Amino acid sequence: MNALEIKQLSKVYNNGNVALKDVSLTVPEGSFFALLGPNGAGKSTLINILADTVHASSGSISLLGHDLLLERAWCKRRMGVVPQEIAFDPFFSPREVLKFSRGMYGKKADDAWVDELLERLELTQHAHKITRQLSGGMRRRLLVAQALVHRPKLVILDEPTAGVDVELRKRLWDFMRELNAAGTTILLTTHYLEEAEELCDQVAIIDQGKLITSRPMQALMGEVASSSLCLRYAEPLQLSEDDHMTLAAFSPRVYDGQLCLTLNKQGNASDFDAAYQAASQRFGAPVDASVRQEDLEDVFLRLTGTEKKNAEKKGVTK
Ligand SMILES: Nc1ncnc2c1ncn2[C@@H]1O[C@H](COP(=O)(O)OP(=O)(O)OP(=O)(O)O)[C@@H](O)[C@H]1O
Ligand SMILES: [Mg+2]
Repeated sequence: MNALEIKQLSKVYNNGNVALKDVSLTVPEGSFFALLGPNGAGKSTLINILADTVHASSGSISLLGHDLLLERAWCKRRMGVVPQEIAFDPFFSPREVLKFSRGMYGKKADDAWVDELLERLELTQHAHKITRQLSGGMRRRLLVAQALVHRPKLVILDEPTAGVDVELRKRLWDFMRELNAAGTTILLTTHYLEEAEELCDQVAIIDQGKLITSRPMQALMGEVASSSLCLRYAEPLQLSEDDHMTLAAFSPRVYDGQLCLTLNKQGNASDFDAAYQAASQRFGAPVDASVRQEDLEDVFLRLTGTEKKNAEKKGVTK
């Protein structure tokens, strides 16, 4: 059974902005799923459609086999959504917010669970303050607690750790991992790609409203991630158009002052030698050479072209 099946989802906002174009993806039940994309990619639009705060222009969604649009009430009781934008009634306390939320889902009061959520999200000390007096990070944690209060099967989090400090972020992820291990499906967006790589077993990348890839994290890293030969020279390099053409087989780029050349996935010795020699012929002997494995951030930048766009802005490449 899949937690979510999204088919050919499109969204055109009233002003003509096309936020999603025919996005189809499947979130397996029990997965820890990262939905990634640059700013404006359409992540929040997709999540807001799931949360019923934005209407899809076309497409279909099913949650645990039930049509999200036709069986809204059934689906709502089984999902908890943390939106990107924070909005609370400023005069309620966190404890009240959580109690009311349970009631809204038609669930009986469960003070023990509310206490546990306050504890795990480190809000116990602030449980009686009015939400207006909470800091941004505290409010975001309250949003997470609110999304969990009815014990949903699927938790959807739109940048749950934006503005949350490093230590708390780690503990929040630990909590998410526990929930996931206990069977809750988790779908999240984040710009912390290192954390996504560590936590998530499935990944989808969207850019400008289009799905670029959706597959298990291991498959993405195994099939798409390659290694790079990084060469440092005494003088910082500028790549000319001619350099780009000559080294084209290695997708040359300047990163952190070094010349980086993509090796084939195995990064075997002959590939290394070929790249090293091709670079040495143009730029002479480097002062330092190293091989680095691509991480999720490298793959993300390559697939979304953000790296190229940034480089173009800085005038590094043509
Ligand atoms: N209410 C709206 N009306 C019109 N256009 C919108 C609206 N909300 C979002 N958009 C546009 O839809 C596109 C996708 O925006 P969305 O908020 O879904 O991106 P995102 O991937 O969540 O980005 P971020 O990482 O910045 O949160 C953008 O071009 C945005 O300008
Ligand atoms: Mg967003």
